[in-house]
Amino acid sequence: MENLEEDLLKRAAKDLINSSCAIALTGAGISTESGIPDFRGPSGIWTKDPEAERRAYRSYQTFLDDPKGWWQERLATPIGLLGALEKAAPNPGHQALAELEKMGILRWVITQNVDGLHEKAGSKNVLEYHGSIFKLRCVSCGSRFDRDQFDLEELKRQNELPPYCPKCGGLIKTDGVAFGEPIPSDVAHRSLEAAWECDLMLICGTSAVVYPFASLPRTAREKRAEREKETETGLHVVERIPAVVIIEINAEPTPLTYEEISDYLIEGKTGEILPGIVDEVRRLREI
Ligand code: APR
Ligand code: ZN
Repeated sequence: MENLEEDLLKRAAKDLINSSCAIALTGAGISTESGIPDFRGPSGIWTKDPEAERRAYRSYQTFLDDPKGWWQERLATPIGLLGALEKAAPNPGHQALAELEKMGILRWVITQNVDGLHEKAGSKNVLEYHGSIFKLRCVSCGSRFDRDQFDLEELKRQNELPPYCPKCGGLIKTDGVAFGEPIPSDVAHRSLEAAWECDLMLICGTSAVVYPFASLPRTAREKRAEREKETETGLHVVERIPAVVIIEINAEPTPLTYEEISDYLIEGKTGEILPGIVDEVRRLREI
């Protein structure tokens, strides 16, 4: 491991130990080492198949226009990705964040991933900003249900699609948030609150180009703390200083790096860097 990276690991470990409210934001990059492709990385799903991305952009409108047809098409699609996601296992990157939570350092994981791997790794406080592939959601009252609470195949056989909400009678959709679909208000609100309250934000494996998620680091960056200082002439002045340390861990720089929203980037694999940081935290705590 290069010296620079080692120094950055030490710096991140110190920053985490000195923090009083640390949160982590994650994207598809943290799950590639679990065999799940990301979207915009060099071998990402959209990078390889731009047409699939265009289709994804139309999906929500298709659901609104024709929910029955949307469900029929969904249930006709071979369960390729769903099957792969169900089989996937968390990697050392997920486990390291779960460890930081257990150590009492990490307060929340806010993820764009629908794969459920943070929970599988043992993280308790997870906000699924883009929903979960294992759940369904009512688009009216926002209630969520496990997929197996509905016999979707039977509804299809009985020609009774789309499924409706047993609580309010609203339309049921998969919980995964489609492009153009509003972020469910409960996770949107709690994520914004967490971004405003934190004093350290660890951003792992995201290209940070999809909004509104990518606005969370910018919200945190706006936060200022006040500190008194004495000028050369002996005057006491109050200065406003950045109140959040923002650390990126990603295979490549992102707009957050170039616009200096983040304080520093540790460039590399989350599955290698995050466990390295946890080891360093442990070592520093023993000293
Ligand atoms: N370690 C660190 N970084 C990685 C790794 C890894 N093992 N693997 C990939 N990366 C980086 C990629 O280089 C890329 O910069 O992670 C980033 C993943 O970015 P995206 O593919 O754009 O994924 P994400 O940011 O999560 O996308 C946001 O877009 O398509 C929608 O709804 C989907 O939630 C998703 C959202
Ligand atoms: Zn409902």
